[in-house]
Amino acid sequence: MAKYTVVTMPGDGIGNQVLPQALRLLRAVGFDAEYLHADIGWECWCKQGNALPERTVELLAKHKLGLFGAITSKPKREAEAELNPDLKGKGYSYFSPIVTMRQRFNLDTCIRPCVSFPGNPLNFIRKRSDGGFDEPLVNVVVFRQNTEGLYVGVEWTNPPEQVRSALAAHPKFKPFVGTPGSDLAVSVRIITRRAARKICKAAFEWARKYSYKSVTICEKPNVLRETSGMMEEEAKAVAKEYPGIALWSTNIDAQTMWLTKNPEEYGVVVASNLFGDVISDAFAGLIGGLGFAASGNIGDEVAVFEPTHGSAPKYAELDPPIVNPIAMFLSAVMMLEHVGETEKAKRIRDAIAVVVKEGRVRTYDMMRLCGGPNAIRRGAASTIEMTDAVLAKVETSEDVACAVSGRGSA
Ligand code: NAI
Ligand code: MG
Repeated sequence: MAKYTVVTMPGDGIGNQVLPQALRLLRAVGFDAEYLHADIGWECWCKQGNALPERTVELLAKHKLGLFGAITSKPKREAEAELNPDLKGKGYSYFSPIVTMRQRFNLDTCIRPCVSFPGNPLNFIRKRSDGGFDEPLVNVVVFRQNTEGLYVGVEWTNPPEQVRSALAAHPKFKPFVGTPGSDLAVSVRIITRRAARKICKAAFEWARKYSYKSVTICEKPNVLRETSGMMEEEAKAVAKEYPGIALWSTNIDAQTMWLTKNPEEYGVVVASNLFGDVISDAFAGLIGGLGFAASGNIGDEVAVFEPTHGSAPKYAELDPPIVNPIAMFLSAVMMLEHVGETEKAKRIRDAIAVVVKEGRVRTYDMMRLCGGPNAIRRGAASTIEMTDAVLAKVETSEDVACAVSGRGSA
């Protein structure tokens, strides 16, 4: 029997292209796992009225470890229109399966590393006054509270009367009292002290474990005085337990500006759900964008790893596939680290680092080409060629270790 069982959920679109390639790498490093396929995503919604089928939930509950590709999500009206006609009008509502999965298994800690690979042509560069440029290496890990905040799903268009009257009890609701229900949309931002404390604690623990000098709490407490205020308050309380690590506090809007000024200054960043989503994409843009952005959704029992990109439908049917599988590979690396297989994780990460540094094999995004079938004709590597290149380095891991540490080239 294999040591690990991984529930694999390729999902929709390019999720089906990148996830199988990650499994090739996991096998190459000898990860002793059995992989169980599970359905998730748009087709499940259209056919069954549920984008996260019960069998998938059961497999995750049993095996506790998941690798996820991407899903397609569409706005309310389109979701209703594409539902199987037999199911229409029977009370089915579309919910994002990844958000549901996070809530169902309380995957409350989302970790999104944004770390540059030297030699990546997509790395952020900064112009100097002498006309030259610097390429500051970014080494940021975003901790996003994954189950609360604005993504809890407590929202209405045309809120019921009890909600309206509760809102009317707040003096700031006065300007909206006369707005007709059908013209009034409300989404509730909920933060609990327990969850705020937990995500801040996780961020500081990471900072301590990996020797980051600072943790930045990125919120908006000057305006969102209650919810962001509680996040900041808890960050300050937790910081007291970590005297060697500085706590910085920034506002989300200012932070999105500052991160292109001095991204090398930041270490661990912690934020509530929506702000964490925003700021992790912003930092990911400095290290190569969606082709390089990986994430882990971690709960007390279950953990699911996924690239942060979506299903990129416009590229989903291309043969050969063109998208960059590195974000998916890095998600698999995070999974290996999570279960303690750090050597195997390092072999894959180092192999990616060498391929990026050598620059001989680059997907279309790394060449700044337009996506589409012409990308391959213009010299971009396909998804499979990129995997082959990384695989070749994994298989010669000794040489890789030398090249990464600067002791020779692979
Ligand atoms: P997307 O991430 O799917 O794609 C945006 C663009 O980024 C693509 O057109 C492509 O140019 C580029 N891109 C994405 N992944 C790439 C990769 N691995 N290599 C190279 N380039 C890559 O986001 P979009 O277009 O906004 O959404 C498409 C669908 O995905 C929607 O239905 C959306 O709801 C869903 N989505 C799902 C997510 C998830 O599964 N966690 C996250 C984000 C979006
Ligand atoms: Mg996002």
